[in-house]
Amino acid sequence: EKVYLNGKIVSVEDARISVFDRGFLFGDGIYEVMVQLENGIFHKKAHLDRLQENLIKIGIPYNVKEIDDQLETLLESSNLSNESCLIYMQVTRGVAPRKHSYPKGVPATVMMYALPYTLPPINPKHMKAILEPDFRWHRCDIKSISLLGNIMTNESAMEANTNEAALIRNGVITEGSHTNIFFVKNGTILTHPANEHILNGISRQIVFQLCKDLEIPVIEKPVAENEVIDMDEAFFTGTTTQVASIAQLGEHTFYGNDDVGKITRKLQEAFAELRM
Ligand code: PDD
Repeated sequence: EKVYLNGKIVSVEDARISVFDRGFLFGDGIYEVMVQLENGIFHKKAHLDRLQENLIKIGIPYNVKEIDDQLETLLESSNLSNESCLIYMQVTRGVAPRKHSYPKGVPATVMMYALPYTLPPINPKHMKAILEPDFRWHRCDIKSISLLGNIMTNESAMEANTNEAALIRNGVITEGSHTNIFFVKNGTILTHPANEHILNGISRQIVFQLCKDLEIPVIEKPVAENEVIDMDEAFFTGTTTQVASIAQLGEHTFYGNDDVGKITRKLQEAFAELRM
């Protein structure tokens, strides 16, 4: 197995990072996850643009063009040039003695790898999710490698034998631990607006475009915890999740557990077509 680390392709055993790396000490970095499918890397530009925007947000002076230029080499050396795979990339603020202030003139640490990965078929099963307090920070728009809040809430979902945790802040549902969440009510889509309380998912933005094409109205308005029972359908979106129908959310069961909602189904099919 090969990884890209600071300009070189090396074996995993030779990929060494200093204990003084700020990613290790502070979780001071940004990451991205994207998938390569039969017809290339899915929405590569959107992912790289988001990575660049996030690096600017936290003041890491690094140009993602280098990553773009190295992706092919990484895939070739991983024998994944034309294979379905998952690509992980992360950029941290580099190596410096531990001090909160940003070090000056330190090069970023850049790491990426690709692993074989097959997307699950559209809606293999209906998702079950718990409702959990969203105790993450107030900059969830930043794709930070510090993911304690995300992994702790996800673990609660696993312990409850469910697939995902939907998070509640100030009485409203923000997003999942690693997904965005959408609801359908009377033919209209409702989802939390893209502000500092959610990550503006690439899949989320693709769904918006699909809704435009399919003339499904969308309102960017959060759904309150106590409004879940009034919703007709619900689904999660994400790079690895795609569009996944939710059968159960907290105490509420949607459409008798085995049918996928009409609009969810439409969007799943349209999403799958993008991969052809
Ligand atoms: N998760 N919200 C959160 C908190 C996420 O971590 C993710 C992605 C999304 C969906 O974003 P996108 O559609 O761009 O994948 C929403 C990635 C895949 C992960 O951490 O593995």
